[in-house]
Amino acid sequence: MNQIIFQHDSVLSDVHMFLPMARQRMTRLNNVGQPVFISKFKFLSNAEKPERNDEGTRENSDTETHSAQGEDEEEDSERNVEPALDEDGDLDVTHRPRNDSTEDSSSRSREVVCPVILKQSHNSALQNEEDQDDEADECFDDIIRLEHTMATPLEDVGKQVWRGALLLADFILSEPLLFKGATVVELGAGAGLTSVIMATLAKRVYCTDVGEDLLSMCRRNISLNEHMIERAGGEVRVRQLDWLQSDLCTDPDVDLSWTEEEVADIHDNTSFIIAADVCYDDDLTDGLFRTLYRLCNNFAHACTVFISIEKRFNFTLRNMDVSCDAYNHFRHCLSQLEDLVDGQCSYTVEQIPSTFPQFLQYERIDQLELWKVTAKRVPFDGAQSNSEQCTS
Ligand SMILES: C[S@@+](CC[C@H](N)C(=O)[O-])C[C@H]1O[C@@H](n2cnc3c(N)ncnc32)[C@H](O)[C@@H]1O
Repeated sequence: MNQIIFQHDSVLSDVHMFLPMARQRMTRLNNVGQPVFISKFKFLSNAEKPERNDEGTRENSDTETHSAQGEDEEEDSERNVEPALDEDGDLDVTHRPRNDSTEDSSSRSREVVCPVILKQSHNSALQNEEDQDDEADECFDDIIRLEHTMATPLEDVGKQVWRGALLLADFILSEPLLFKGATVVELGAGAGLTSVIMATLAKRVYCTDVGEDLLSMCRRNISLNEHMIERAGGEVRVRQLDWLQSDLCTDPDVDLSWTEEEVADIHDNTSFIIAADVCYDDDLTDGLFRTLYRLCNNFAHACTVFISIEKRFNFTLRNMDVSCDAYNHFRHCLSQLEDLVDGQCSYTVEQIPSTFPQFLQYERIDQLELWKVTAKRVPFDGAQSNSEQCTS
């Protein structure tokens, strides 16, 4: 595939936007006929991390990473922003952030970055080389390989990787002690990047989403990175969790449904819920907040929720202006949760400043935000239930 066709209703993640026509490694067609690509997400070396404050340094991090490429190669890729040809004349595209030390930090934070895209294989010799590359990657704990599609219709956005996942992944990597050994539920995990990162620290991650095709791609991505997860002693279980359903599916005949033991495990042991870029449609956002509410109410312990969001501005005919309706609805749901008095849980909400270090390559724009919700059980005092739109 040399060219990607964009339909009028296609949406394309910024993570993949910079190389839409570049030659890439297509691995297969998925069950609905969409081309599936494989990209590498490589952790930045220490030198590439932005200046940061003292909290959460990675000195003790179990996931401290090493450069998979040699120093020379990295310097070369920074100097050569033009795509290079390999010996067969194929485009060998490696996009790296420009690192001009004369720029100030605000302009540096807007550097254009995207995953390292591999070339597409055409012959068995090249395929062998790529297989060897893949095997070599398994020696390193700093390269995540992910299958994803590009330019999907809205209902398939989970098959792409979104910047919110990279922001949340950075936060997780900046707080290794916080997540160490935890049981975590990810909602709307998509391709699974954040769950993979979390599983390098946590004990168990329930990586959840909806859709047979998406979940099977997510499961493949977990397998592709199993070496990293296993080495860290973590575990990822991919499961169905639909925000528009009130119960977890425990039907054993349904693929990726929950066992009774797993339901008990999340109720008894979950201390974190994470979700990246999941608020882009108001009805789904309402479903997401209802799910958060139900989960937190069933948990035995306090739970902290981290949600990343990208504030997207769109022109709407309704407003005849540019507005960020999905973001505003998200903030409204946060406020409702915080105001909720139901005698079961109390919720506090705060925004986490995006000053934590950057471990992955992407453009950390100002519109990317991370929010923290803390849910604490309150002793039963007969307080009146105050069911609100987002939580009833
Ligand atoms: C924009 S994608 C984000 C994917 C991934 N977290 C990331 O940031 O790359 C939104 C995700 O929400 C999921 N989603 C949408 N509706 C859902 C529902 N009713 N229940 C569970 N997940 C849903 C989608 O399948 C998709 O994976």
